[in-house]
Amino acid sequence: MHILIIGGNGFLGRDLAEGAAALGHKVTVADRRPPRSWPSARRFGVHVADVTRPEQLATVFEAARPDAVVYLAAYGTGGAGLLVSAQADPEAAVGVNVGGLLRTMRLCRDHGVRKLVWTSSTTVFGQAGMYPGETVDESALVGPASVYGATKVLGEQLSRSLAAEYGVQINALRPTMVWGPGVQYRGIQSGLCDLVPHAVRGEEITVAAPAEEWDLIYVRDVSAALLTLAELDTAEPIVHVSGYRASVADVAEEVRGRFPAARIHLRSEPARLGIPFVDTTLATKLGIRPRFDLARSIDDYAATVGGAERVLESDECGDT
Ligand SMILES: NC(=O)c1ccc[n+]([C@@H]2O[C@H](COP(=O)([O-])OP(=O)(O)OC[C@H]3O[C@@H](n4cnc5c(N)ncnc54)[C@H](O)[C@@H]3O)[C@@H](O)[C@H]2O)c1
Repeated sequence: MHILIIGGNGFLGRDLAEGAAALGHKVTVADRRPPRSWPSARRFGVHVADVTRPEQLATVFEAARPDAVVYLAAYGTGGAGLLVSAQADPEAAVGVNVGGLLRTMRLCRDHGVRKLVWTSSTTVFGQAGMYPGETVDESALVGPASVYGATKVLGEQLSRSLAAEYGVQINALRPTMVWGPGVQYRGIQSGLCDLVPHAVRGEEITVAAPAEEWDLIYVRDVSAALLTLAELDTAEPIVHVSGYRASVADVAEEVRGRFPAARIHLRSEPARLGIPFVDTTLATKLGIRPRFDLARSIDDYAATVGGAERVLESDECGDT
């Protein structure tokens, strides 16, 4: 299958591109930023294109002629993270997260691409206390507290409204908090992501440890879920995916267990996220079963540290 990954030069995009290519898929990457510090991107078709520029995105579709499209582009600026960036500039966030997605839906229709998968988010939900049970499934009411979550809600509504009319199967994957090597911005999961490389190198680190458990998922499991959806004949509009529940303190404990020389200090903080845990029954039914538990996530991440770990160039750090 030939997969076009839009926003393919980011944290998830790079992992997905590598994972898809390893499985024998042809991969084309489109992103606003050229793929610096990513030597293996040479194996892929690469387009520098801005999703807010209709002519640039159209050129990508004309040149690539993909079988399936995965849309991962999201507005980020100054290395601040997607949530903070969207809150600071809602118009720009709507332009990328919603406008770019809508444009992609239309281009799929116009180029006969039958499959579009994109990443929504569990930030579509309101605070956990709004919901009666311990977990929420895909039918639970949304109530985002952030502009970022609101853009995802709008994307989901547009997917539902236009999929049949456009003749495109559109699946929105709602991953919980994704962690692993290669995050290119300082988001809520940054402290978590910093733990492993510091532990491997024996460097001292202090990390904020909010008083809450999070639904977490390792990056490779998100890539696998996106690929499964891209290949699957299902019109499910929204699918949750998550790996395991853990707090930052739980992750730190597991890291310490695996790297006894780790010098980790935790700084207690009040809860920051507060969204409900998700039910993943639908994903299981669709054959999406995350393989990485916490211990395996840490081991896999640790194996990338050192020679294999990417060193970001300064112009990359500033962009998301
Ligand atoms: N990381 C998580 O925890 C998480 C959780 C749930 C959902 N998601 C979603 O997954 C997707 C990927 O997230 P990520 O963590 O890899 O983010 P990222 O910032 O690393 O990747 C997004 C990519 O989109 C590109 N992009 C931004 N604006 C663009 C534009 N105008 N035109 C073309 N490309 C543009 C960026 O250059 C970047 O490479 C996003 O849609 C995000 O909302 C992420």
